[in-house]
Amino acid sequence: MTTTAARSSAPGSPAEGGAGGPRTINLTLHVWRQSGPSDAGRMVTIDAPGISTEMSFLEMLDVVNERLTLAGDEPIAFEHDCREGICGSCGMMVNGVAHGPQRATTVCQLHMRFFHDGQELWIEPWRAEPFPVIKDLVVDRRAFDKVIQAGGYITAPTGTAPDANAIPVPKPDADAAFEAANCIGCGACVAACPNASAMLFTAAKVTHLGLLPQGQAERDSRVLSMIATHDSLGFGSCTNIGECSAACPKEIPLEAIARLNGDLLRAARRRRRRPPRDRRRGSGAAR
Ligand code: FES
Repeated sequence: MTTTAARSSAPGSPAEGGAGGPRTINLTLHVWRQSGPSDAGRMVTIDAPGISTEMSFLEMLDVVNERLTLAGDEPIAFEHDCREGICGSCGMMVNGVAHGPQRATTVCQLHMRFFHDGQELWIEPWRAEPFPVIKDLVVDRRAFDKVIQAGGYITAPTGTAPDANAIPVPKPDADAAFEAANCIGCGACVAACPNASAMLFTAAKVTHLGLLPQGQAERDSRVLSMIATHDSLGFGSCTNIGECSAACPKEIPLEAIARLNGDLLRAARRRRRRPPRDRRRGSGAAR
């Protein structure tokens, strides 16, 4: 199916504005259209002429959607919130690459100057069984919420906040925890992984809390529970391909997965060691 609505309201010719000025480019979009979870879905070709190279990728989709709407066609559904690369809502495959061709960049921060006049773009939703398509480019990422619910928290006393310097944290640990905390939960790691593994996402959450003193109380139960939930939701296993880290807009390193594996082995070993009598006493048993 070809939609020509976008072409009919084209604002101008390519390379407007002269040297150094604003430019426009003409694109051909092949967009995944799926009316709902039970629809089989299909690629639809949409002409997108006169796109300013100063637009972001989502602004380009806004323009296309405005043209589609004016022509009486259904706009393309896609998810977004902050458009500043911090909320993790946006995410789509652009020419087979999660978040598109610009490294360490969410698709909302990707700009049209990275594309050229006459280019064809294939735009698809994340493809992973635990992320079913809701509509067009929007997928259901509640599986990530379930992994977080399984262990992404700490136990802390209520009351007055303690002095920030009361618990010393070694600088390398603080830096690594902060690096892991950059994960925005966009799902690019899952979409990029041939196994649809969410191990980088899970590792970021385990690392972020497990490296800090406040995260020690649940360190064992956290990693065991989050991995069990990860597996039960249908995410695949990690086979160290590294696509997840390469696709991550926040550049979470593969070392996070190594840390998770270390924590997992440690937790499994300690759980096996625990005497049966202590196990019967519940979670307050000696660690
Ligand atoms: Fe928030 Fe892209 S819309 S990260």
